[in-house]
Amino acid sequence: MSPKYHALVTGGAGYIGSHVVHQLVEQGHQVTVLDNLSLGRKENLPPEAKLIVGDILNDDDLAKAFRQPVDVVFHFAAWKAAGESMANPQKYGKNNICGSLNLIGACLKYGVENFVFSSSAAVYGDPQYLPVDEQHPRRPINYYGYTKLAIEENLNWFSELKGLHYAALRYFNATGYDIKGRVKGKEKNPANLSPVVMEVIAGIRKEMQVFGNDYDTPDGTCIRDYIHVNDLAIAHLMAMDYLMEKRKNLVVNLGTGKGHTVLEVIHAAEKVSGRKVNYKIVGRRPGDPPELVAGSDLAYDLLGWKAQYSDLETIFKSMLPVYLEA
Ligand code: WQD
Repeated sequence: MSPKYHALVTGGAGYIGSHVVHQLVEQGHQVTVLDNLSLGRKENLPPEAKLIVGDILNDDDLAKAFRQPVDVVFHFAAWKAAGESMANPQKYGKNNICGSLNLIGACLKYGVENFVFSSSAAVYGDPQYLPVDEQHPRRPINYYGYTKLAIEENLNWFSELKGLHYAALRYFNATGYDIKGRVKGKEKNPANLSPVVMEVIAGIRKEMQVFGNDYDTPDGTCIRDYIHVNDLAIAHLMAMDYLMEKRKNLVVNLGTGKGHTVLEVIHAAEKVSGRKVNYKIVGRRPGDPPELVAGSDLAYDLLGWKAQYSDLETIFKSMLPVYLEA
């Protein structure tokens, strides 16, 4: 039987964090969640997970979270809207940078050596070649992406200076909901494509906008690499095992290597739901690269990880119950 750990999951009541919490509990690990519930939802959590409502910027909350010895920290507690980060960088700097450094400091204080970090394809900026592998230059074009890069670099320093072992997992476009239906909370104020499409299907919004159809792609709309959140969750546990067994750092992309246009995504949702998605083509959204697709061989080579649930049909089938039955 594989060893069982005590994991502290910051932001564990949020969208990606809660999927990882379910995966950890399912595999028999003990889980403590630290979440300030600003975007997370209590009802996303399984009863086995212990919730501490608190903030990574608050040392008393961190003391509570580390009261019981922790083997590994998963860090999801961060703001993630790239557009907002350009208008309000101070909000992103405070939580994503200061908060993360505070958490890393707590790991050192409480003797935790293993840290799994929720990073992003946003660290790369505009792709200079495709697919984007881990060696691609890191030149973020939004402040959000910069905050993720800043923490990756700090993790590297703390690894050199203090012996911390870390995994930085660079997600491409996270999407879908738990295929076992355990996570029911819709994301609050979504701006990403798939929840917006689902809100139109569910009648929460009348129509949606497609940002540009004059890109140099087969149907003129942008191409992205959509990765199911259950595939991400599985990768997190593999990354944890890698840290524990190999005692080496890990920096990998999590994507499928396959891209879909915005219209392909909309049509897949229509097919799965049997409903029409009302959309209007509008101008390009600033900062959108025409195509972003992951080189994902390294995660396979190092972890044996490959996406299993990330075809568009499985993605939208997993979202229907959350949007139509709630
Ligand atoms: C996808 C495509 C839009 C909404 C963002 C972050 C990035 C990363 C993943 C986490 C684009 C189009 C969207 C809509 C549309 N986050 N679109 N109408 O921008 O690729 O990446 O999430 O680390 O940092 O920037 O994702 O879902 O916003 O957009 O036409 O209402 O859908 O233009 O082509 P994006 P997205």
